[in-house]
Amino acid sequence: MDSLSGARVVVTGGAGFVGSWLCERLLAEGAAVWAVDSLVTGTRRNVAHVLDHQSFTLTEADVSQGIPDPGDLDLVLHLACPASPVAYLRMPLQTLDVASNGTRHALDLAERHGARFLLSSTSEVYGDPLVHPQREDYWGNVNPIGPRSVYDEGKRFAESLTMAYRRARGVDTTIARIFNTYGPRMAFEDGRVVPTFVHQALHDLPLTVAGDGSQTRSLCWVEDTVDGLVRLALSDHPGPINLGNDEETTVLDLARTIIGLADSRSEIDHIELPEDDPRIRRPDLTRAREVLGWSPTTSAADGLQRTIEWMDELRRAA
Ligand SMILES: NC(=O)c1ccc[n+]([C@@H]2O[C@H](COP(=O)([O-])OP(=O)(O)OC[C@H]3O[C@@H](n4cnc5c(N)ncnc54)[C@H](O)[C@@H]3O)[C@@H](O)[C@H]2O)c1
Repeated sequence: MDSLSGARVVVTGGAGFVGSWLCERLLAEGAAVWAVDSLVTGTRRNVAHVLDHQSFTLTEADVSQGIPDPGDLDLVLHLACPASPVAYLRMPLQTLDVASNGTRHALDLAERHGARFLLSSTSEVYGDPLVHPQREDYWGNVNPIGPRSVYDEGKRFAESLTMAYRRARGVDTTIARIFNTYGPRMAFEDGRVVPTFVHQALHDLPLTVAGDGSQTRSLCWVEDTVDGLVRLALSDHPGPINLGNDEETTVLDLARTIIGLADSRSEIDHIELPEDDPRIRRPDLTRAREVLGWSPTTSAADGLQRTIEWMDELRRAA
């Protein structure tokens, strides 16, 4: 498949943060989109602007139980899964359930229609990495019994299941390993670093930096991530392919940048580091560049400014 025009696509998790931007992009390229979402962490509000689009359908369903079948399909993009630590620690069993049974239902759907399948995996499969930056051939350093393992090991299982369907059943699969992605429509209470800091800065509250803030993150603007997902879906590469931004920043520097961009009077408070918090994070993007001709194009200053403006508008409207 070399174009999305006329393609028939299921997006699980389509009412979530990344999923909603992805649905919008698919519709803009002329695809017909069936979003399936249980709304456990996503909202209808995220897709309110496309609900009336003639090629868009949102079905509320838990994909761990099964996925409504809309008929002929070209692509199944499987994003459904609680993604923020606050959400997956609150729903440990549901997270394992969607990573296992949900992924299996999505793979079965793709197999039934001879559709290409894309798993949205995560940089968390690398755990607290001992290799830096992280290349796709690094196997990771994950604590299998820590509280975060429901997500990390869930995604590792989902990757394994995806590869098994490819090898044993001939399904055309691929795997994206997404690194920290940010932008409008992230839930500000979901504990992820950008919405947390932006919310605090806009309210002149202290920015809560975990530990001494020297741990690093690499943050990717959501439309860049979505562009990578679309290119990977249209390619025939089996993955995994890292998608993210390879500009690395310390959490402390990020806090200072957001205070500056938001013109805030906030100070910085140091809080306890969460258990198994990764110390470093940066994708090696060589494969994405070579295979997909993709690399992120949005600067942190631009992306953070747009996120701040969006959250500020929400705050004023509330
Ligand atoms: N945003 C990031 O930085 C990031 C990084 C790595 C990987 N990812 C992956 O990208 C995907 C989307 O993440 P996000 O940041 O948009 O999170 P999100 O929580 O905003 O979106 C996840 C969506 O999946 C839905 N969902 C969860 N369980 C479901 C179930 N059982 N049945 C149906 N729908 C269900 C939620 O309601 C939500 O709309 C996830 O698979 C996540 O693991 C995201």
